[in-house]
Amino acid sequence: MNFADGLKFLSEGIREQTTVGAVWPSSPALCGKMAEPILRDRPDRPLRILEVGAGLGPVSEILLPQIRADDVYDIVELNPKFCAHLRDKFGHTPANVHELSILDFKADSYDRIVSGLPLANFPAAMVEEIYRTFFRLLHPDGFFVMFEYLVIRQALATVTLGPDRRRVRRILDIEKNLLPLQREQVDILANVPPARVRVRTRPADPEAFVL
Ligand SMILES: C[S@@+](CC[C@H](N)C(=O)[O-])C[C@H]1O[C@@H](n2cnc3c(N)ncnc32)[C@H](O)[C@@H]1O
Repeated sequence: MNFADGLKFLSEGIREQTTVGAVWPSSPALCGKMAEPILRDRPDRPLRILEVGAGLGPVSEILLPQIRADDVYDIVELNPKFCAHLRDKFGHTPANVHELSILDFKADSYDRIVSGLPLANFPAAMVEEIYRTFFRLLHPDGFFVMFEYLVIRQALATVTLGPDRRRVRRILDIEKNLLPLQREQVDILANVPPARVRVRTRPADPEAFVL
């Protein structure tokens, strides 16, 4: 990811504040931690990997050179400018870029999902819908990796007022409800702002799982 890419991301981050949710691509340290569980202890069969909210592709850049020729690597990204960039940059790789919202993506049986979605910016009902979509998209043994910015949600829950306070508190409750699914978490200070990477499994019974 070079400086020109950073400026491209900055311009979309300012134009599309809610959906992009950041002004600079994630740091190499954060992307490395997001990518690491995806291929760790991989089974000896083709893997189906889904990346959601890839932006300009700092995580794809790490994973794509390491996947096997028979693996599937699908990217779902909402922003048309980012999709054009991803197609250009990864056109020679097995990556398939799908330009749409994850909520409209029809597929299934992914072994792993890696998500860069800025959930703290979204309405609480949409956050719940996104997690339900991840459950639907995952194979029963699958897991998903995502990050959140440290402290920001808690700070928002304290300083915001009215409906936004209720929104943030509901998102924090959803995150608490997801704790039984958590397999690992690691904090990355070498990112602006510092971030927490979480790895979570699909629930055994997604329909019954309370979010
Ligand atoms: C915080 S950026 C992360 C970009 C990149 N993964 C990184 O870490 O630098 C969030 C990305 O999610 C995308 N996005 C937001 N809502 C989406 C949705 N509903 N479906 C798919 N992508 C979405 C945005 O366009 C943006 O590229």
